[in-house]
Amino acid sequence: MKNPTEETVATMHVLNKNKRIVTPHFLELAAQSEEGLLYYAPQLCEEGVNGTYFLQNKNGNKIAVFKPEDEEGNSDSNPKKEISADLAGCNAGSDSISKKISADSDAEGSPSSLSPPVLQHGVYSGEQATREVAAYLLDRDHFYGVPPTGLVEVAYSGFTSGQPLVHSPEAGRSQRLRKKGGSLQAFVENDGSAEDVGFNAFPTREVHKIGVLDVQIVNTDRHEGNILYKKNKDGSRRLIPIDHGYSLPHTLDSAWFGWLTWPQAKNPFDDEVREYIQRIDIEKDAKMLEKLGISADSVRNMKVSTTLLKKAAAKNLTLYDVGALICRVVGQNEPSEMEVLVKHAEEACESRFGVPRTTRLDAGDQPSQAAAPMEQTEEQEVFFAALEPLLDNKIEEILQKKARAIESQRGPGKHNLSLLRDLNAVEDACCNIKALTPRVPRRTSSRTMMAPIKIAV
Ligand SMILES: Nc1ncnc2c1ncn2[C@@H]1O[C@H](COP(=O)(O)OP(=O)(O)O)[C@@H](O)[C@H]1O
Ligand SMILES: [Mg+2]
Repeated sequence: MKNPTEETVATMHVLNKNKRIVTPHFLELAAQSEEGLLYYAPQLCEEGVNGTYFLQNKNGNKIAVFKPEDEEGNSDSNPKKEISADLAGCNAGSDSISKKISADSDAEGSPSSLSPPVLQHGVYSGEQATREVAAYLLDRDHFYGVPPTGLVEVAYSGFTSGQPLVHSPEAGRSQRLRKKGGSLQAFVENDGSAEDVGFNAFPTREVHKIGVLDVQIVNTDRHEGNILYKKNKDGSRRLIPIDHGYSLPHTLDSAWFGWLTWPQAKNPFDDEVREYIQRIDIEKDAKMLEKLGISADSVRNMKVSTTLLKKAAAKNLTLYDVGALICRVVGQNEPSEMEVLVKHAEEACESRFGVPRTTRLDAGDQPSQAAAPMEQTEEQEVFFAALEPLLDNKIEEILQKKARAIESQRGPGKHNLSLLRDLNAVEDACCNIKALTPRVPRRTSSRTMMAPIKIAV
């Protein structure tokens, strides 16, 4: 172990310990990181598009990943701002993917930075840290394997941006530290990312776990670089989902599931995954997200996609079927099928309440449009009462398409419709691949990725 320096390198404490939700796993990680910072400075990670720092324990082992709120996305403090801006510019599709808003907007409380918050992939700069924590807390029973995550504040003299340097009593005579809030996540030992080995190496169950998480949080950034893997003793590979800052978006136009083109997504869910999906308690999760400070529109989007997932899984549809309803077709600036259904349900709300106020489909909405809590609840009830039959009809439509596909392959009367495994295999054979933009650079760790290709059946 290295000798402690005469003066403290950096300090850390858990943010809003009483108000925020923290788990024992996370507190243990925070305690070790705090201790390690007395000896080792945060190290800026070269990969990724945001400011990400590795923290060590007192023995010098990498144990945590700190992502400051003010170094996210297009903020002036992001040390990789140029890469982040380039990748934002590469996004095809929605015109609201990257949008500046005025400083007095109703974003969830972005930290002050020189530039106004920017909406990227449906999330404002400064909001990612809370979403990292949300993804961890939604991982009930650690089913998905999101590493323990929470919110902390780190004070370090080596940060080149952020709040003005201040003298700190812990820091000794001449040391001045800059404070930054952000997410702290356990560093997971891994053998690389999915980019390094290709999707064929992964068991279906592992892919499904990641996919179910992504649907639940409406992930807008699930590319291969954000899936780490670790080889088990028997040679199989476990997947570790990371980087959930661009999830729980305010808008539904940016969902991005890199696994949509992977064959595992078309395999049926096994019993364990299916049971997990049915155990998800949407209302409980919604309350937890609200407590964490996630906005009403983002919570509603989680509820929409999770409702769809539960209904689809109950009817033996696949992860692919669900993902294809949620994602837009690459290269087409058209709403996804789920967006269209949501729009219809909103219209039902509109006819009862006037302009919908619980959603913010456009970044220009004003805080004055927010409804009172009682009204919001009633509005949501009307919205979901309108949405659910639309989702049921869509699922029925997909089942019928699959039945027709199998019929055209085998001839009428020669199939058993309950054999969805067969149906999906046939669907593979007769699918019409719309590879409109086969490869686009995206917000990866400075590499490129395969864009999701929507397959029409
Ligand atoms: N929990 C983790 N365990 C191990 N490595 C991690 C973890 N989180 C991030 N990393 C590493 O840091 C890199 C950047 O982190 P990421 O969360 O993807 O940031 P960005 O938002 O900049 O893309 C990742 O590509 C990965 O190599
Ligand atoms: Mg990343």
